[in-house]
Amino acid sequence: MIGNDVVDLALAEKASNWKREGFLNKIFTKSEQLLISNAEKPSIMVWNLWSRKEAAYKIYNRKTNSRGYFPLLLECSDLKSIDGTVFGKVVIQNLIYYTKTEINSQFIHTVAVEKTDDFDGIINLKNRTNIHKKNGIPNYSETGNSVSKPVSISHHGRFEQIISFYDKPNLDFSFRKSNPIL
Ligand SMILES: CC(C)(COP(=O)(O)OP(=O)(O)OC[C@H]1O[C@@H](n2cnc3c(N)ncnc32)[C@H](O)[C@@H]1OP(=O)(O)O)[C@@H](O)C(=O)NCCC(=O)NCCS
Repeated sequence: MIGNDVVDLALAEKASNWKREGFLNKIFTKSEQLLISNAEKPSIMVWNLWSRKEAAYKIYNRKTNSRGYFPLLLECSDLKSIDGTVFGKVVIQNLIYYTKTEINSQFIHTVAVEKTDDFDGIINLKNRTNIHKKNGIPNYSETGNSVSKPVSISHHGRFEQIISFYDKPNLDFSFRKSNPIL
């Protein structure tokens, strides 16, 4: 399963005042608030954590059918920056989701997966062709093909990101790894 979330930083700056009374306490746990207060750019950390929670929620919702607004139950941890991409975890109850976040001056985009190997199988879709929704949740399936793949859509301000999996990602990638010529 996958989830994603994009934040347009210009829109977030204009439309959401994260410094307003009570906001941080409603959305972020104590340890997340510590990450924010210790960050070089607290505002970026706010939207970085927000984006991770939303991306993880999209998987959680698909898996459990639990819908709702429970930001404090989704806790971000283990943030680690590698070559400009920030990896981490989001935990909810006993479930762990792995997150990968791209941050630049324009937007923050997080992809969440259930297994870290799944990051290798993510593709970006250019449009909504062959995407169908069930109970509001998008999937990709071609006419006449019974195989359905999970899709996650996120849009905010100037940006839209639609992601899915390659066909059989694990099979393809294990094949490549065991065949160094490829
Ligand atoms: C449903 C929710 C995840 C949508 O997120 P959003 O940031 O408002 O909007 P996004 O653009 O990122 O995502 C919307 C897309 O997600 C998809 N979507 C809607 N509900 C979904 C769900 N429950 N699960 C997975 N995908 C969903 C849809 O494709 C939708 O786009 P579309 O209607 O144009 O096709 C969000 O409103 C929500 O309810 N979050 C609850 C989790 C929480 O506690 N968040 C607190 C903030 S950290």
